Amino acid sequence: MTASAPTVVAVLGAGTMGAGIAQACAGAGCEVQLVDADPEALTRALATIEDSLQRLVRKGVLDEGSIERTLGNVHPADDLASAVAAADVVIEAVTEDLDVKRSLWQYLAAHARPGTLLASNTSSLSVTEIAGFGGDPESSCGLHFFNPVPLLPLVEVVRGEHTSDATVARAVEFVARIGKTPIVCHDTPGFIVNRLLMPYLNDAVHALAEGVTSAADLDAAMTLGANLPLGPLALADLIGLDVTLAAIEALHRETGDPRFRPAPLLRRYVRAGKLGRKSGEGFHRYAPREEGA
Ligand SMILES: NC(=O)c1ccc[n+]([C@@H]2O[C@H](COP(=O)([O-])OP(=O)(O)OC[C@H]3O[C@@H](n4cnc5c(N)ncnc54)[C@H](O)[C@@H]3O)[C@@H](O)[C@H]2O)c1
Repeated sequence: MTASAPTVVAVLGAGTMGAGIAQACAGAGCEVQLVDADPEALTRALATIEDSLQRLVRKGVLDEGSIERTLGNVHPADDLASAVAAADVVIEAVTEDLDVKRSLWQYLAAHARPGTLLASNTSSLSVTEIAGFGGDPESSCGLHFFNPVPLLPLVEVVRGEHTSDATVARAVEFVARIGKTPIVCHDTPGFIVNRLLMPYLNDAVHALAEGVTSAADLDAAMTLGANLPLGPLALADLIGLDVTLAAIEALHRETGDPRFRPAPLLRRYVRAGKLGRKSGEGFHRYAPREEGA
């Protein structure tokens, strides 16, 4: 990385998170190589980025010119090896599956230049374990972005057991440079936000199942009494009940702690296809195509 040349970032995985991460990096002037195993995912990601930029322009957050500038910095790449070899920073945001991540990180070990900052956006897997699949665990860390990336400022910088101090410092500097707020944490289940948020959302579902009150009143109580912008059931609907269930299951699996036992009602809703906003129904009902926060 030099002060004069733009930082080259390879974003691996062009799904929900990869598209948002690519947008954030490109918007900050990085040259982004966006890679996906599925060519259609790349096409969708470019459309998603353009749509998001247009919305931010309409809201007055960005100027008109930033659409072209940002899109001009995003380069769909079909050659993983050369995208990785050219990168100063690699951010892996592929499917949350240890086997998928293992083979990709082994590939990274063979193709990334020595000293390249290697990061995984995993939510629930161990950063130390993922970094161990690659060739350089000292230069590897977690960079946990939040969805939707263009709107949420936090990035958890996750220090694996072998991550060096220099890598943490580089990661913090990189995150700040792309306009996000880095907070460093250790590689423990759920990191910071999911460790605290998921048990809270899960507990709200337990409370609903216990018949404390209705879903609407439970959410209203927490917005009015705890001054939160959104009640927990509405927030779980926004995140997706399948994503919420997977996160609380991961905490339960990793720790064995009964505090993280998934609420049976949450599992029942997911099995019934009630996934929250994206399916039109969760703890609340939504009009078709209603947009997220
Ligand atoms: N969705 C969220 O709210 C969220 C939030 C924070 C972190 N994360 C993490 O981000 C990562 C991605 O999640 P997502 O929600 O964007 O998933 P997603 O399913 O939307 O996208 C994953 C993409 O990875 C691609 N992919 C799979 N294997 C690949 C390979 N070998 N090489 C290249 N591309 C490959 C898929 O084609 C897909 O486009 C996961 O680790 C997840 O835990 C997700």
